[in-house]
Amino acid sequence: MERFTSPHEMEAAAADRLASALAEAVGARGRAAFAGAGGSTPAPIYARMSAADLPWDRVTVTLIDERWVPRDHPDSNAGLLRDALLQDRAAAARFIPLQRGGATPDIDAAEAARDLADLPAPLDAAFLGMGEDGHFASLFPGSPALSAGLAPDAPLCLPVPAGAGRPPPQPRLTLPLHAIADARVLLLGARGHAKRELLERTLAGEGGDLPVAHLLRRAPHLQILWSPETPQ
Ligand code: 6PG
Repeated sequence: MERFTSPHEMEAAAADRLASALAEAVGARGRAAFAGAGGSTPAPIYARMSAADLPWDRVTVTLIDERWVPRDHPDSNAGLLRDALLQDRAAAARFIPLQRGGATPDIDAAEAARDLADLPAPLDAAFLGMGEDGHFASLFPGSPALSAGLAPDAPLCLPVPAGAGRPPPQPRLTLPLHAIADARVLLLGARGHAKRELLERTLAGEGGDLPVAHLLRRAPHLQILWSPETPQ
């Protein structure tokens, strides 16, 4: 786990690494695919990436997960990426949403999975956040969709039901562990001491059956970037 002394330093490092990975992928294979998480950590990273001088018209952007709400809903991750990443130079990128306005999360997940199958596999770059409960993407501890999301043969997009009295508060759509863990450059960004302590315990093999423990076991090249909530 890399420790940065401020969120800004972590954000700059993450944006540089992700932009470099995409530029390298386009140079090597003519196209690139990036998947980004929602939440509060990545927005400044996406803003930095949007100005990166790379062939964005050869890049496809998608989501690590999505809240099953319309794109103009304040909780929408597609809205977050539209406003933070798909601006400036990155406005030229193609975007594959997970939420499509289908009648159910299952219908949207199946349609998104079909589109995601056209992406280069593995993903060239991906950015994850993590919750203090050890969730990443929309793979939550105790979720009835967790085992499906961890399965090696999981579909490329799965529906996640809202938790009854526990997260997530609304239905979600998520990429499965295997599609995330196989990314050529995979960053997890986390801020705050609670998440540092959780990551340290998990890295020490004490993460038990938390979703993030599965991620660390399955993605040995995961880069974990941590910073305090405020500059030290
Ligand atoms: C989401 C995210 C989710 C997020 C974590 C951490 O849709 O909310 O994909 O998995 O990454 O909850 O969120 P923060 O970055 O806000 O701490």
